[in-house]
Amino acid sequence: MPQKPDSVIILGTGAYVPENRVTNDDMAQRVETSDEWIRTRTGIQARHFADDGQASSDLACEAARQALAAADTSTDSIDLLIVATMTPDMPFPSTACLVQSKLGLGKICAFDLQAACSGFVYALSVAQSMLLSGNFKRALIIGAEKTSSILDFEDRTTCVLFGDGASAAVLAPSDQQGVGILGAITGSDGANPSLLQQPAGGSRIPACKESVAARQHYLKMNGKEIFKQAVRVMGQACLDILDQHEHTLDQVNLVIPHQANMRIIESLSKRLAIPMSQFHNNLDEYGNTSAASVGIALDEAYRSNRIQSGDLILLVAFGAGLTWGASLIKWP
Ligand code: ACO
Repeated sequence: MPQKPDSVIILGTGAYVPENRVTNDDMAQRVETSDEWIRTRTGIQARHFADDGQASSDLACEAARQALAAADTSTDSIDLLIVATMTPDMPFPSTACLVQSKLGLGKICAFDLQAACSGFVYALSVAQSMLLSGNFKRALIIGAEKTSSILDFEDRTTCVLFGDGASAAVLAPSDQQGVGILGAITGSDGANPSLLQQPAGGSRIPACKESVAARQHYLKMNGKEIFKQAVRVMGQACLDILDQHEHTLDQVNLVIPHQANMRIIESLSKRLAIPMSQFHNNLDEYGNTSAASVGIALDEAYRSNRIQSGDLILLVAFGAGLTWGASLIKWP
């Protein structure tokens, strides 16, 4: 019988965004929009787009190498790889398998996880459970997206919101009690998939001349409805995870929310009565990087010394599905 650990800790994090920085003014050259509209409605000032030759697995590997270095972990000690993405290199094989080979990892358990923008928080939760089972020793989780590959650059209501990037974390079991990932909440409601979807390219509408002509391979979103639901489900997930682990809102040192829209984050801040100064945000520079977003912000917060040993960190996300998740971490 494998020995079950007491907790799971994050040993190191990493992040990568492509070099190509695209400002709101640059976007205004492509669609009828303005820097003023994008900034005031979303808080976004720029995003980074990958080159034609770069796919999600390439972004993933860059972030993973950083996380492995930060965790001082060699590739041969990783025995679990989870890649969260809604923009895989291809439908199959999984992006995780491609990353396994590119990084030179062993012949390990590797799979993709599809929870859209909640992907990083979902991956953290799944990896934590698998490590707590005692069957795995060291996990690499990655959120990686080339959202630009599914953006409709003729649709100003969506294409200005998203960016490309990747984030990663190395997780390990620990014998210390009460530290690391204290727990996670993950939820979903698939009743209204059309709120946010890429309609074609799967088994419902396989790629064909008509689907391409109807632009059905691009991301479609009902922004207003998503906005309302995002504030509600993220707020509830935060309250539930704190309640489950007998912590209170005033004990939280830092909130790292999914980076979709500053107005959503401000509404969440009001709802939780946690001041905006205790939120780590970077969507002004990266836009919404979907499954990569929470991990990029976590990596940035840690590297800029916003996270200290003993801090209580709350990660929270929502995404297409709808999906949502929150994770509570006592930083070791
Ligand atoms: N530039 C200029 N005008 C625009 C743009 C643009 N880029 N986009 C929309 N408009 C116009 C609209 O056409 C509309 O014009 P009209 O009144 O003449 O019809 C006007 O601006 C207002 O549009 P609204 O949709 O009402 O704008 P709103 O204030 O709701 O903001 C937004 C839209 C930013 C999309 C907001 O609803 C939002 O952020 N929603 C949440 C989206 C989100 O977070 N998605 C990520 C989900 S996570 C995942 O899994 C991928």
